[in-house]
Amino acid sequence: MTSAAIAVASDHAGFPLKSDLAEFLRDKGFEVVDLGTDGSESVDYPDFAFEMARALKDGRVARGVLVCGTGLGISIAANRYPWVRAALCHDVTTARLCREHNDANVIALGGRLIGVELARDCVETFLATEFGGDRHARRVGKMTNPPEL
Ligand code: RB5
Repeated sequence: MTSAAIAVASDHAGFPLKSDLAEFLRDKGFEVVDLGTDGSESVDYPDFAFEMARALKDGRVARGVLVCGTGLGISIAANRYPWVRAALCHDVTTARLCREHNDANVIALGGRLIGVELARDCVETFLATEFGGDRHARRVGKMTNPPEL
C-alpha cells in the first residue's frame, strides 16, 4: 500500500533542522512519520537512512526528508537501495530539478550548512513538483535496474 505520508529522519547533526521541518510539514497539513533520531546524542547516519529506505519499501510513506550535517552521508547511505532516489539539495532549483528530471523520492539536506528558511522552501518545492516523465523516465528506469557489472 502506498501512503501519501512523508517520512523525516536525521542523525544528531540534522536533528534541529529535521524537527523544524517535521513541524513545518504538519502545519501544512501533511501526515509526517518521524523515523528519528530523537535528540542530540551522537548516532550513525546510515541507520536512519536505512529506516527511510524501509519506510519507502513498505509503502508507509511516499516521500522522505533526510538530514545530516552535510546531507552527504545520509543520502549516500539511502541510495544504496535501488528504490531510493535521494537528492542532496542546496537550493530551490535543485529541489525542483531533482523531481522534474530524476523523480527523486527523498530530499536530503545539510543541517549544518543550509538555513531554515531555505530548507523549508526546498522541501516545499520538492513536494510540489511533478516528475517530467518522457525521456527522464527512461533514464530513471535505468537507475532502478542497473546492469550487472
Ligand atoms: C556527523 O558528525 C556528520 O559526519 C554527519 O552528520 C554527516 O555530515 C555525514 O555525512
